[in-house]
Amino acid sequence: MPPKQRTAPDILARKGGEKIAVLTAYDYPTGLLADEAGADVILVGDSLGMVCLGLPDTLGVTMADMLHHTKAVCRAVKSALVVADMPFLSYQTSIADAVANAGRFLQEAGARAVKLEGGAEFAPHVRATLSAGIPVMGHIGLTPQQVARLGGFKAQGKTARAARALLADAHALADAGCFALVLEAVPAEVAARITQEVGIPTIGIGAGPNCDGQVLVFHDVLGLCPGLRPSFVKQYADLWTPACEALSAYCAEVRAGAFPADAHTRRMDPAELAEFHAASEYGDA
Ligand code: KIV
Repeated sequence: MPPKQRTAPDILARKGGEKIAVLTAYDYPTGLLADEAGADVILVGDSLGMVCLGLPDTLGVTMADMLHHTKAVCRAVKSALVVADMPFLSYQTSIADAVANAGRFLQEAGARAVKLEGGAEFAPHVRATLSAGIPVMGHIGLTPQQVARLGGFKAQGKTARAARALLADAHALADAGCFALVLEAVPAEVAARITQEVGIPTIGIGAGPNCDGQVLVFHDVLGLCPGLRPSFVKQYADLWTPACEALSAYCAEVRAGAFPADAHTRRMDPAELAEFHAASEYGDA
C-alpha cells in the first residue's frame, strides 16, 4: 500500500521529535524528485519568482503564478504535505482576501496547507483561515515580501529588542493556530529560544541547528542556480555543470550531423517504403 500522504496535524505532532525535512518544489519534475527523496513537507514557495521566473525578488509573483505551479506540484506529490505560499498582496489586503485566496490553493490546486509571511499583525488572518479549515504555516524573521521596506534581504533579530519582538510574534502565531513556523535568517540563539518556547515545530532556513526542521530551496540544494549563494545554504550537488555539458554536447552533435544516429531513428517497413516511392501523386492513400 502506498504511504499515506502527510497532513498538517502529522507535522504538528513531530514537535520535539524526529526533525522535519522540508524542500521547495515548483513543478511536476521537482515535485516528483522532492517527494521521492522523502521530504516531509513540500513548499511551493514564492521563491518561484526568483528561481523559476527570473524575477529579482518575490514581489512580482501573483496568485495565478502560484496556483499554476502548485497544481503541477500536487499532481506529482504522493507522500509529502504540500504547502502553498501566499504571494504578495494575496492576504495583506484583508482577512477576507486571506481566507478566499488560501481556499483557492486547496480547492483549485490540491494543496493541503498555506504559508504566509508576517508576525502578530497577521494572527487574525491565521485564525480566520484556520476557521475555514485551512492549515497555516507562519513565516517570521527575514520575510522577503518586505524586501522594499527592509531595503534588502537582511538577517533579522540581531539585537535583544528585535529578538524579543520575534519571540512575541512566534507566540502570537502559535496561539493563533499555525501548525508550524518558518524562521528565516535569524541568529541560532534566537531560533533555539523560539523553538524551546513555542508548542509548534519551527522550520529553519539560516536559523541554526536547533529548529525542529529545516527548509532549503530545491535549486540551491542541487546547484541549479548560478551566482551568489547565501552562506547558510548547503549545496549537495552541482547539477549546473553536467547539465551545461550535456546540453552543449547536444548542440554540437546537431550541428555536426551526429544526432540523431541510427539508434534514435525510426525506419519505414521496406514494402511500405517502396509503395510510398512508387506513388506518383500526393494523396495516394
Ligand atoms: O519562498 C520560499 O521558498 C520560502 C522558503 C525559503 C521558506 O519561503
